[in-house]
Amino acid sequence: MFEKLELLAPDAIIGIMALFREDQAPNKVDLSVGVYQDDTGNTPVMECVKRAERQIVDAQTTKTYVGIAGNMDFNRGMEKLLFGADHPVLAAGRVATVQSPGGSGGLCVAAHLLHRANPDARIWLSAPSWPNHLPLLGLAGLRLESYPYYDYDAHAVDFDAMMACFEKLDAGELVLIHGCCHNPCGADLSQVQWQALTDLCERRGVIPFIDLAYQGLAESLEADAYGVRLMAERLPEVVVVSSCSKNLGLYRERTGAVCVVSSSPEQSKATATNLANVARGIYSMPPDHGAAIAGQILNDEALTALWVEELDEVRRRINGLRDLIVAKLAERGAPRDFSFIANERGMFSFLGISKEQVIRLREEFHVYMLESSRINLAGINQANVDYVADSIVAVL
Ligand SMILES: Cc1ncc(COP(=O)(O)O)c(C=O)c1O
Repeated sequence: MFEKLELLAPDAIIGIMALFREDQAPNKVDLSVGVYQDDTGNTPVMECVKRAERQIVDAQTTKTYVGIAGNMDFNRGMEKLLFGADHPVLAAGRVATVQSPGGSGGLCVAAHLLHRANPDARIWLSAPSWPNHLPLLGLAGLRLESYPYYDYDAHAVDFDAMMACFEKLDAGELVLIHGCCHNPCGADLSQVQWQALTDLCERRGVIPFIDLAYQGLAESLEADAYGVRLMAERLPEVVVVSSCSKNLGLYRERTGAVCVVSSSPEQSKATATNLANVARGIYSMPPDHGAAIAGQILNDEALTALWVEELDEVRRRINGLRDLIVAKLAERGAPRDFSFIANERGMFSFLGISKEQVIRLREEFHVYMLESSRINLAGINQANVDYVADSIVAVL
C-alpha cells in the first residue's frame, strides 16, 4: 500500500535549517528560524518557567491522565489572559475552552469543530499567512480561501483591499486574523482597523477566527489582546486559538488553548461538549507538563509578575533590534528605506528583497533567511549586526 506514497520535498524552512547546519563558515547567521533567541543565540528557558517547574515536580503525586479539556487552572488562566478577568463574555458563561497541544493542535481542533458545525464552512486566510495554516485547517475539511493583506510595495497592511474582499462574504464565513505580530510580515492591524473590521463582521455576520500566537511580543499582554477583547464584546461568535510557545518559551512542551465564544450560555455548553469530543477523537488527552507550568504561572501573582518582567525584556530586545538594524542599514547608505521594519512588530519582517538577493546572501555571505525574505529579528545580535547590515547592503 505504501508504494502509492511519493517522496516529499523537505519543508522549505527545514531545508534552509539543514543548509545552515551544514555551512562551516564561522560568520554564518541564521535569520530563518521561528523561535526567539537571546543575544548569545540561545533560546532560553524563562526563570518563571524554571521556578514553576520546580514547584510542580515537588508537588506532583500522579501521572494519570489530565481530563479531555486539559488542566482547568490553565484554561481559566488563559481565558483571563486573553479576554481580561472582567470581560462580559466570561461573566456570561459564553466561552468554552480546551487546552490544546500547542497553538497548532488548537488550530486543528478548532478547524474540526467548525467543520462539524458546518461541513461547507469557508475560512479566509491572509495573503501571506503562516504556511502551516493550510494543512492545519485544510486537513479538517474546511474550504480555504485567501484575502489580500500585505502590500509588498508599501510594506504595510492593505486594509482597503482586505475590507473590500470581506464586504463580499456571506454570513457564517470565517476570516482568520493574526491577533498580533503577523507571521510572516510583522504588519498588524491598528486599533481603529480592528474596530472597522469588527463593525464589518457584525454587519455581515462574518465570524472571526483569531490566531494569537504572540501575545505580549508586540506591545504588551493587554494591548496585544485588544482585537480579541473587542470582537468578543461585540460579536455573537468568535474563535480564538492561542499559544504559549513564544510568550512563555514553552515550544517543545506543546501548550496552547482554544477558546470559542458562543452566542448564549446554553449554546456554549453544547460547544464545550463538542470541543472536548473533537479533541478526544484526535489525541484523546492533551499533554500535561507545559499547561501545568503555564497554569502555575498564571495563577500565582509572584510568578506572573516575574513572567511579565521577562517577557517585557524579550519584547524590548526585539523592538530594539528593529531600530538597530534600520539604523545600521541607513548608516551604510542603503539605497532603500528600511524604516518600515521599525514600525512592525513581533519576531518577523520581510526585508522586501528579491529571491536572487536572498540566495546571494546565503551563498556568498552565509546569512540565512526564508526565500520570501522573511527574517527573524531575534537572530540578530550585537556580535553580528554589523556583518548582517554590510551583507544586505552588498546585495542590494
Ligand atoms: C501564526 C502562528 N500560529 C500558530 C503557531 C503555532 O505555534 P505552536 O504550535 O508552536 O504553539 C505559530 C508558530 O510559529 C504561528 O506562527
